[in-house]
Amino acid sequence: MAFSTFSLSITIFLMILQVLWNTSMYVNGCYTSIFSFGDSLADTGNIKQIASITHTDVEALRWPYGETFFHQPTGRASNGRLLIDFLAESLGLPLIPPFLHDKEDDKVVEFGQGVNYAVVAATALDTSFHEARGTVNAAANVSLGDQLRWFKQSLPFICNNTSDCRNLIGRSLILMGEIGGTDYNNPIVGNKPIDELNSYVPLVIDTIISAVNELINMGAQTLVVPGTFPIGCSGMILTSHFFEKEEEYDNRTGCLIKFNTLAEYHNELLQSKLNHLREIHPNVIIIYADYYNAAMQIIRSPDKFGFIEMVLKSCCGGGGPYNYNPLAKCGYEFATTCVDPNMYAYWDGIHFTEAAYLILFKSLFQGPYTTPQFNLLCPSSTFKDGVGLSGSQLQ
Ligand SMILES: *[C@@H]1O[C@H](CO)[C@@H](O)[C@H](O)[C@H]1NC(C)=O
Ligand SMILES: *[C@@H]1O[C@H](CO)[C@@H](O)[C@H](O)[C@H]1NC(C)=O
Ligand SMILES: *[C@@H]1O[C@H](CO)[C@@H](O)[C@H](O)[C@H]1NC(C)=O
Ligand SMILES: *[C@@H]1O[C@H](CO)[C@@H](O)[C@H](O)[C@H]1NC(C)=O
Repeated sequence: MAFSTFSLSITIFLMILQVLWNTSMYVNGCYTSIFSFGDSLADTGNIKQIASITHTDVEALRWPYGETFFHQPTGRASNGRLLIDFLAESLGLPLIPPFLHDKEDDKVVEFGQGVNYAVVAATALDTSFHEARGTVNAAANVSLGDQLRWFKQSLPFICNNTSDCRNLIGRSLILMGEIGGTDYNNPIVGNKPIDELNSYVPLVIDTIISAVNELINMGAQTLVVPGTFPIGCSGMILTSHFFEKEEEYDNRTGCLIKFNTLAEYHNELLQSKLNHLREIHPNVIIIYADYYNAAMQIIRSPDKFGFIEMVLKSCCGGGGPYNYNPLAKCGYEFATTCVDPNMYAYWDGIHFTEAAYLILFKSLFQGPYTTPQFNLLCPSSTFKDGVGLSGSQLQ
């Protein structure tokens, strides 16, 4: 990646950031801002800037991405809002703007209430790790380490000195992920054996844990650390391993058992390391978000949530049993889009629809799928669908 052009655009960005931060006002909610790290599950537009610098063609920047809510592609990998968007709305914060953005977008961007460093296709491990193993990232070579570096680079522009920065970070909600999904997805599609994938897990977890630790040392008081989704249920993975033997499939869901077991291994190791961190930092609130089981409840009983029975089939794609075709991905020629995305959980073979993200949001941030339970720390049960819930309603 052309990092020299990259740093130029970061410099421009930082100048704008400072102006906006100083003029912004804090809302009367539980957290004054959100700092977010991760991949396509949380990117609210960083990929747009990266793709324009590296001249990369990225699906999330093509129609019909964004069709349902933003009515244009924003870089979000869905038809509408993501979990982080619903979270921001429920906390009375504006949608969290991407760290990297176009100069033309300045007028619509308000940075005082958070910055999003998540990038489509970002990995937890460094790009060099995957490249050494022959896995090339077609969308973006950005790791969690890069995102932490951006965060530190932006701090001098959003707070005045060490204690001021500690206070700011302490009042903020840190969303650490989901990250790690790409570290597994790309090699799985590249047909890496399961033993090799399992060997990545402790390395991915160590990277996430050391990022959490670093943020705590910088003053973080409340962090949400999500696990990974059921990898073996995604249309992209099911299509890439279409000729697996029958006994490889979970007969209740149709998902591939070994990849879900990989995801569960990741999540169990993550939780045990988070428990250890909680002991070391008893005054810090470390929330585990169980993305896996929040999604599994939908996959096990799609009818309960208003989704079609063949829940693993995506709304947008180029055909096949899962409506996923690597040669005709959503956004490209020969792909079609379903009439009603609200009836589909999966949007494009990997990512969820806005309708599914809303259910996931409610299950996680207003329901039982976070530990400790998020809404007992910060009640936001008055959340309604739609934009612009004001902070005062949350008190
Ligand atoms: C990522 O790095 C690899 C190897 O250096 C390169 O082939 C690929 O084009 C890069 N991808 C992007 C999006 O920069
Ligand atoms: C930083 O300091 C300047 C003046 O020294 C002040 O105007 C500004 O409000 C301060 N910023 C924050 C975030 O406290
Ligand atoms: C740090 O910045 C804050 C906010 O601008 C200010 O009130 C405080 O005096 C500063 N502290 C030091 C040690 O400079
Ligand atoms: C599903 O698989 C389990 C264990 O592999 C088996 O005991 C059960 O009978 C199967 N159920 C159906 C409906 O095939």
